[in-house]
Amino acid sequence: MSVTVVTGAGSGIGRATALRFARRGSTVIVADIDERTGKETVELVAGACGRAVFRRLDVADVADWENFTDWVCAEYGVPDVLVNNAGILIGGGFLEQTTADWRRMIAINMMSPLIGSRLFVQRMTEAAVAGHIVNVCSVGAFLPTPVGPSYVTAKAGAWFGTQALRAEFGKQGIGVSAICPGLIRTNLAANGSRGGGDEKGSADWAAKLGGVHQYLGRSPDRVAAAIERAVRWNLSTVPVGLEAWLGWYAYRLSPSLVRGVTGLLTMSLADTLTDRAHKLLGGVR
Ligand SMILES: NC(=O)c1ccc[n+]([C@@H]2O[C@H](COP(=O)([O-])OP(=O)(O)OC[C@H]3O[C@@H](n4cnc5c(N)ncnc54)[C@H](O)[C@@H]3O)[C@@H](O)[C@H]2O)c1
Repeated sequence: MSVTVVTGAGSGIGRATALRFARRGSTVIVADIDERTGKETVELVAGACGRAVFRRLDVADVADWENFTDWVCAEYGVPDVLVNNAGILIGGGFLEQTTADWRRMIAINMMSPLIGSRLFVQRMTEAAVAGHIVNVCSVGAFLPTPVGPSYVTAKAGAWFGTQALRAEFGKQGIGVSAICPGLIRTNLAANGSRGGGDEKGSADWAAKLGGVHQYLGRSPDRVAAAIERAVRWNLSTVPVGLEAWLGWYAYRLSPSLVRGVTGLLTMSLADTLTDRAHKLLGGVR
């Protein structure tokens, strides 16, 4: 019986992935910092006749990662699949985002998939398990945008680290994939924050962007399906959605062209567009 570990499985893409892998017969370890939503995912899996167990994990905490790895391997054996999915969004331009914003972003969106990969690949190689590591990155890895520079920097780092991991362990029977979604209908924006802003301003910004995001994004199950495909065929990088494919090819074709285009979307323009979209959609959520 296969075992799949999914971080950030209490919501969005992680939850959809947990449900999809459980439906395929895998026992899913639902890891999240949020115990309530993580346990909800376990109930949803049980409702779909699957097997899942919740374990709290703060992916920004290395000691927590080490304890978590020990626990998973002791209780369930070395897992077949690890999906490093947990992530956050912090908006704001380069000068708005504080050093604390950058540190938090890099710890969660970049370091955590690399730490998780290191710990579990070590167990896989020791136990000669031909496992698979999936790191959920973003099309942002190829878009040097001014409206959330720490986010795209962290995702680019996670993507590049995934490629280095694949170069080293791909030949040793370990699958390694990066998933790069475009806009997906999840709680990412609603749970996000605005760099450098006061608490109320940041919450208002996240609520507004979250409403628009919910309306425009596609289903998180599209990403879960891409993750399943990546594991089945050991795919290297899988963009999800038209804008993600465009970003992926455009950046290869001309980084300076992409930089020129993404540079047009300043934070003030993004705020205006979000306000208009929010009004147009009748103040959704
Ligand atoms: N939604 C999108 O449009 C989109 C696009 C591209 C990439 N992504 C990436 O997909 C991944 C999943 O995000 P989502 O869109 O499903 O968002 P989401 O907010 O719905 O889910 C993120 C989950 O991660 C958990 N989490 C946050 N910080 C954590 C921590 N320190 N430790 C453990 N868990 C933590 C949250 O509790 C939540 O359950 C993220 O890495 C995100 O960057 C999302």
